[in-house]
Amino acid sequence: MTLLDFARGPALQFAIIVFVFGVLWRLVGVLLLPRIGDRSPPREGAPATWLGAARTVVRRMWPRREFIERTLYPTLNSYVFHVGLALVVFGLAPHIVFIRDWTGLSWPALPSDLVLAIGVVTLVSLVAVLVRRLVHPVLRLLSHAGDYLSWLVTALPVATGLATTMDFGPRYETMLALHVLSIAALLIWFPFGKLMHAFFFVLSRGATGARFSHRGVEV
Ligand code: HEM
Ligand code: HEM
Repeated sequence: MTLLDFARGPALQFAIIVFVFGVLWRLVGVLLLPRIGDRSPPREGAPATWLGAARTVVRRMWPRREFIERTLYPTLNSYVFHVGLALVVFGLAPHIVFIRDWTGLSWPALPSDLVLAIGVVTLVSLVAVLVRRLVHPVLRLLSHAGDYLSWLVTALPVATGLATTMDFGPRYETMLALHVLSIAALLIWFPFGKLMHAFFFVLSRGATGARFSHRGVEV
């Protein structure tokens, strides 16, 4: 069995199983937490609970006006790499073929040169995130191994994807195998660290919004 066969076969299958069961496990764990009902009457004019929750999920996509100036750089940079990741993962033709083989769904691809350029911007943006974490005294103090591991498993698929396409490093098949192995690493770590924010952001913002709007607080 070649490295590529191993990566595409057992490694990726194992990673997908860990990802699916891990994410379900964590979601069920949070949804089954005991909930202490709020018996106080809602503040006059308070929106319905679901509306308060939904508003905060959307509202928190952007900082409050008071904080914009101080948080503009990390906010914009965060948008750059999140949107970049989405465009690369869902816009590149071979990725769409992969998704079609697994799910039957497909859509038109972006031009591959454009995806490559977006990939480079995404990688630079991710490096900027790491540099900020290393040089910002408070952020650095608060950071632990899990933060760096989450960064690494996010950045590696982009770096190896670029190297595969641009013919860097070893021959194509080996580089592609490393690309697939880095994706397996991302899927395996995903449920256990802070990458779960991709699912949890709805629950955490929603819970805050529901609680605050009940009390008449604008968030
Ligand atoms: C700029 C960044 C990236 C580039 C240029 C890129 C490029 C490629 C290329 C050329 C292939 C292989 C095509 C083939 O010969 O079969 C591939 C496969 C794949 N890539 Fe990427 N990739 C990038 C980022 C990512 C990211 C961030 C992910 C997911 C987190 C990802 C997931 C995949 C998957 C699942 C496959 C299919 C592997 C297979 O065929 O078994 N890629 N990518
Ligand atoms: C819709 C889904 C997602 C939302 C709403 C979201 C939102 C966020 C937010 C608000 C931050 C904090 C940014 C800051 O420090 O200003 C963040 C950080 C981050 N996100 Fe996401 N995210 C999502 C999906 C993902 C996915 C799928 C990945 C990777 C596979 C990812 C990787 C990261 C990483 C690595 C960081 C941390 C950067 C650091 O080290 O500070 N995110 N995300």
